Amino acid sequence: MDTVAEIPELRQRVRAARQGGAVIGFVPTMGALHQGHASLVEAARKECDFVVVSIFVNPTQFGPNEDFDKYPRTLAADLEKCQAAGADLVWTPTKDMMYPAHFSTHVDVETLTETLEGATRPHHFRGVTTVVTKLLLSCLPDKAYFGAKDYQQQAIVRRMCLDLNLPVEIVTCPIIRDADGLALSSRNAYLSAEERASGLSLSRALALAEERIASGETDLERIKTEMRELLSKTPLIKLDYATIADPDTLEELSTAQSRMVALIAAWSGSTRLIDNRELTTD
Ligand code: PAJ
Repeated sequence: MDTVAEIPELRQRVRAARQGGAVIGFVPTMGALHQGHASLVEAARKECDFVVVSIFVNPTQFGPNEDFDKYPRTLAADLEKCQAAGADLVWTPTKDMMYPAHFSTHVDVETLTETLEGATRPHHFRGVTTVVTKLLLSCLPDKAYFGAKDYQQQAIVRRMCLDLNLPVEIVTCPIIRDADGLALSSRNAYLSAEERASGLSLSRALALAEERIASGETDLERIKTEMRELLSKTPLIKLDYATIADPDTLEELSTAQSRMVALIAAWSGSTRLIDNRELTTD
């Protein structure tokens, strides 16, 4: 496994692999890698011939009061995890390469970005879509891998690639959880033992929604109320949203349909956690 920083060098390495007939897989990350990220690299390894991982903590997707400065940066351990998961090349661009002086171009996806995470984090998705476009145009992969953990993000990236005719297939991989159900996240490193225990209420509320659907409940307002009650009575938890939506449009639903997604965001102490679960009536 090699590492590169410069975009021309990345392009040259990818071009050489493609000339040899390789299908190029790409996994964009912000580092602080865990088994969730590794699962994306492993999926790319299975489906592609040349696997590129990017590590870049993207400043433009953090709000002014968010954790950009304290976001965990663990490059040496990240490189080991990339190697173990089967990456061929790790690309670590710098802020100056991604945001040259006088940077003034952004990619904005409408509608899908306005609800859920977008309602609480107003400029977050503009930062994500702008950087993902730049990462994709720098790497030019055949397939790019995203986690269902950030459900709205993958839906927005899919929309953006369709709208801009970007020639890349977006692959969404399942959420990887700890044995107790907590979805893995780089931000879990911030949690105290008590905050972590309270954080389990997110996956519990999602399991409750799944149980209710499985037992035939079709009134989603009732299920949402139950989810919110479970979360609100958990110590240290401050609920942002707990809802059930259409998996493609992310519009909130009141009545069950064949495919749905339950989505939750809440703070445990001062750490914002998100989780979700796809639900089906069949
Ligand atoms: P980051 O939070 O580092 O996540 C990189 C990828 O790993 C995302 O696609 C995310 O959904 C996936 N991921 C994180 N935790 C996961 C888990 N528990 N199970 C499965 N997949 C998981 O998402 C970003 O970075 C950034 O917004 C980025 C797309 C890199 C743009 O800056």
